[in-house]
Amino acid sequence: MSQLFFQGPGQFRGPYSPPGDKSISHRALLFGALAEGKSVYENFLEAEDCLHTLEALKVMGADILHEKGTRRVQIYGKGMHSLAAPHKELYLGNSGTSMRLLLGVLAGQRFDAVLTGDPSLSHRPMRRVTEPLKLMGAQIKGRDNGNFAPLMIHGGKLRGIEFDNKLSSAQVKSALLFAGMYAEGKTIIREVVPSRDHTERFLRASGASFRIDGETLAIEKTEKLQPLSARIAGDISSAAFFIVGAAMTPGSDVVIYDVGLNPTRTGMLDVLKRMGARIEIQVQETMPEVLGTIHVWGTRLKGTGIKHSEIPSLIDELPVLMVAMALAEGESLLSGASELRVKETDRIHSMVQNLKAIGASVEELPDGSLIRGVEVFHGAEVDSFGDHRTAMSMGVASLAARGTIVVKNTDCIATSYPSFLDDYHHLLKS
Ligand code: S3P
Repeated sequence: MSQLFFQGPGQFRGPYSPPGDKSISHRALLFGALAEGKSVYENFLEAEDCLHTLEALKVMGADILHEKGTRRVQIYGKGMHSLAAPHKELYLGNSGTSMRLLLGVLAGQRFDAVLTGDPSLSHRPMRRVTEPLKLMGAQIKGRDNGNFAPLMIHGGKLRGIEFDNKLSSAQVKSALLFAGMYAEGKTIIREVVPSRDHTERFLRASGASFRIDGETLAIEKTEKLQPLSARIAGDISSAAFFIVGAAMTPGSDVVIYDVGLNPTRTGMLDVLKRMGARIEIQVQETMPEVLGTIHVWGTRLKGTGIKHSEIPSLIDELPVLMVAMALAEGESLLSGASELRVKETDRIHSMVQNLKAIGASVEELPDGSLIRGVEVFHGAEVDSFGDHRTAMSMGVASLAARGTIVVKNTDCIATSYPSFLDDYHHLLKS
């Protein structure tokens, strides 16, 4: 288990293009495998999480061509019913997205599959997906009544249900949308606080029987999906480490190219602007995904509050936003974020512990944290807690540290951002 040394203080300066979006890369594979015909994606994210989805689909007979290092996948889809019974367990590593979205797809298949993951994934709650899928007619077994992997699923004849997505989880919503394409009757999903809508964009573009009416989504049995080809937008959740890092350190100046600006993902930019960040955004494309350029200049930020209704639009950016809050003038309150406790690790706990270790003034709350900004951090040894975003956030914290932040247990960074360290060193100016 490797450790990384981040020597502070520093600034970020220069041009930067983030790696492909993780959420879109997973969906590109799944939609590609179920479509009829060839889909080609450029800028596919070659990170462990997405490669687990790719492998799982291959184990079920999907024809996917991918040469490591090309960031290109070609998927020769053979239709909604083309997947075959896997001859071994589907091992999904650390990837909650792989497990939850695949459960939705598998619910509609006529075979058994067993889904497993690493210790972190085996402790993440799956009932939120397995319960509604069972209501639709899938048979799912696992510890705690289908809440924890390993999960055994036997799909079959499904029926549509009405579902209220109270957790505003895009993974739950997406699983049900996949299953809904196999179900008799309509599957209706209501979502009051919107979560990321990449699946909906794929459904529309590939011609599924799908409608959106305000807060209500309706999907019906879909016999055929069109193949799609696209360049996958840069991941704003990966870019976040450099956007927030630059925004919070005076003297920084970073231009981020080809980054996804899907409005269901950009809550972080609104929060940073409220904190007084100097950010300019230019939208270049809007369909099928919003894409553009972000220019960030560093300045001392001011404290702010982040509340429940904003959380889904910035859920993955909260660890690094907590770093910015810990440096911002005045007080910041993060609340309504208890979902952070069931991510790859309990991110409220991991970030509070780590921020305290480097001299921040942070208090852990059941659903967030109360933070009083300091002017500088100091060096210390901290732990990733096995969580990629905690590890990278602590690397970014070193920009404001007098000393070195040693992050232990950093192999996990490869789950979402294998080239993080290269980009970090490319942009870092001391
Ligand atoms: C994701 C949705 C989010 C996010 C995760 C990716 C997706 O999870 O945290 O990294 O691709 O749908 P939830 O939908 O469970 O909040």
